[in-house]
Amino acid sequence: MPADRQITLRSARTGDVPAIRALVEPLAQERVLLQKEAVAFYEAIQEFVVAEDADGSLAGFGALHVMWQDIAEVRTLAVSRDHRGAGVGHLILEELLRRARVVGVERVFCLTFEVEFFRRHGFAVMADQSAVDPEVYAELLRSTDEGVAEFLDLARVKPNTLGNTRMIRTL
Ligand SMILES: CC(C)(COP(=O)(O)OP(=O)(O)OC[C@H]1O[C@@H](n2cnc3c(N)ncnc32)[C@H](O)[C@@H]1OP(=O)(O)O)[C@@H](O)C(=O)NCCC(=O)NCCS
Repeated sequence: MPADRQITLRSARTGDVPAIRALVEPLAQERVLLQKEAVAFYEAIQEFVVAEDADGSLAGFGALHVMWQDIAEVRTLAVSRDHRGAGVGHLILEELLRRARVVGVERVFCLTFEVEFFRRHGFAVMADQSAVDPEVYAELLRSTDEGVAEFLDLARVKPNTLGNTRMIRTL
């Protein structure tokens, strides 16, 4: 990507969903991102930040999903291949962390292959499940969200999370 191209961050709109899905699809095939139905993207659209190129095309996006009083997850963070390595992912992640502070959580989780990228943004590999108390763990088990199941490291989602690293940072 030419360095002079301007990137703008904004909240996602419903009209972004087809472009977001088009970018997620190949990454989901590679099991880098979680495969989701179109309806899940519309339902979660208010969680998304998008990065737009000067010509209005989608450079990348990411979402912040609140899981509990003090924990949220950065999920579905992706930058289009022609915009990678130019700081777009950094801009999106910083905005998601800002939103995490605004909404009142203290910690942010992610499940990723991009360990170095997240490490540079203050995330550390989660040693075990002690990030949540047993009572909160029991409450989170009631969630039907696949990402929450991945956070809890439940056996049924292990095939999806193979090779991913569970990381967390305190804000
Ligand atoms: C992870 C991902 C979102 C990063 O996006 P990106 O826009 O390439 O990220 P950045 O450009 O901010 O940073 C990537 C690298 O580019 C370099 N870089 C950062 N800012 C730069 C700049 N302004 N100019 C040149 N290089 C830069 C850094 O060396 C950085 O290295 P690091 O990854 O070791 O930290 C992207 O690789 C991606 O879409 N991956 C597939 C989906 C995925 O795995 N998502 C995470 C799971 S939720």
